[in-house]
Amino acid sequence: MSARPSWTETGRAVAFGLTVRPFFLLRDRLVAPTDPAVRAAMRALRRAPEPTERFESVLAARQAALPPEARTWGETPLSVAHRLLRDAGVGQGSAVVDLGAGRGAVLLAARALGAAARGCEIDPARARVIEAPLLACGVKLDVADARTWDAGAPTHVWLSWITWPATLRAELSARLASLPSGTRVVALTWAPTGPFRVLAERRRLFPWGVVDVVSAERE
Ligand SMILES: C[S@@+](CC[C@H](N)C(=O)[O-])C[C@H]1O[C@@H](n2cnc3c(N)ncnc32)[C@H](O)[C@@H]1O
Repeated sequence: MSARPSWTETGRAVAFGLTVRPFFLLRDRLVAPTDPAVRAAMRALRRAPEPTERFESVLAARQAALPPEARTWGETPLSVAHRLLRDAGVGQGSAVVDLGAGRGAVLLAARALGAAARGCEIDPARARVIEAPLLACGVKLDVADARTWDAGAPTHVWLSWITWPATLRAELSARLASLPSGTRVVALTWAPTGPFRVLAERRRLFPWGVVDVVSAERE
């Protein structure tokens, strides 16, 4: 079976995305943080263009020897990230890390909950889209490879790694295993392997379909 989606599948996915888009635009507006800098960054994200494939993007992936499917674009709607992070216990005093953070939408959701937020993204063209507003509200988004980036001591790790190959997920899981007991992971589709206890599994609507989201804890 071909791993490449057919034109029909691609057409269906695009049609689905266009149908649910107004729903997410509306829901995202209901996330109303008190911090004006976070609100400004959320506005910047709404107005920002979707990332396009750029020369520097391809080069960065080649240098990191990343397969193209690992860089598939898809962004978690702010409202979905906000709810899932809150359900995973994120609030004031939490420190959220997004490994493969795209434009930083999940990190903004974390800041809207009062948490500290940092992340890394391999593609500089994505990481820089709203760099200044992110920095202004305390979000640090580094252009770096999640396999080598120093994630520090987060309380929560976000993994939008649906399209990442199993070898890459295994490599990252092994790194996550060195985090202290009690560190939580919110992962789309695939739970981290190793010493993690699954706390909850939820089905959530994303712009590309229904996704199983796993909340797990380092044992
Ligand atoms: C599906 S996007 C999700 C973005 C964001 N986390 C969200 O949920 O909205 C996954 C991102 O991971 C990035 N990525 C893939 N492999 C990576 C790696 N090894 N290190 C850092 N970023 C990576 C891709 O470039 C892509 O932008």
